[in-house]
Amino acid sequence: MLREAARGVLERAHAPYSDVRVGAALLAEDGRVFTGCNVENASFGLTICAERNAVARAIADGATRFRAIWIEANRPGGLAPCGACRQVLHEFAPDLWVALPRGADATLARLSDYLPDAFGPGDLAR
Ligand code: THU
Repeated sequence: MLREAARGVLERAHAPYSDVRVGAALLAEDGRVFTGCNVENASFGLTICAERNAVARAIADGATRFRAIWIEANRPGGLAPCGACRQVLHEFAPDLWVALPRGADATLARLSDYLPDAFGPGDLAR
């Protein structure tokens, strides 16, 4: 289900500059799925990744707790989340499962494997 959602939104990526299309499907604890695709810009630095767009959609709809994210890309072997996306995902779900396609199956790892010793909300406690 997550894979289908990620594949679907990947088709809507706006990636005329890199031609790297990414689709992310974020599973909330309440069962809802929020999708996002990358949105590039002629001013390159304004590009936003698929994963962060999925998070923004979820937060705007009131979901703040997440179980898993599936990331699809038009690249063989998929694409691991960039550092900025790891940090943004960590804000809400340090133990998130990250699924990357591998053939008909997926590679599963925890976000904490991608971002060990992460800086997060707890570091701002007074
Ligand atoms: N991209 C994502 O959408 N997610 C990532 O985690 C890595 C990179 C996008 C941004 C840009 O549009 C394209 O991939 C090439 O960097």
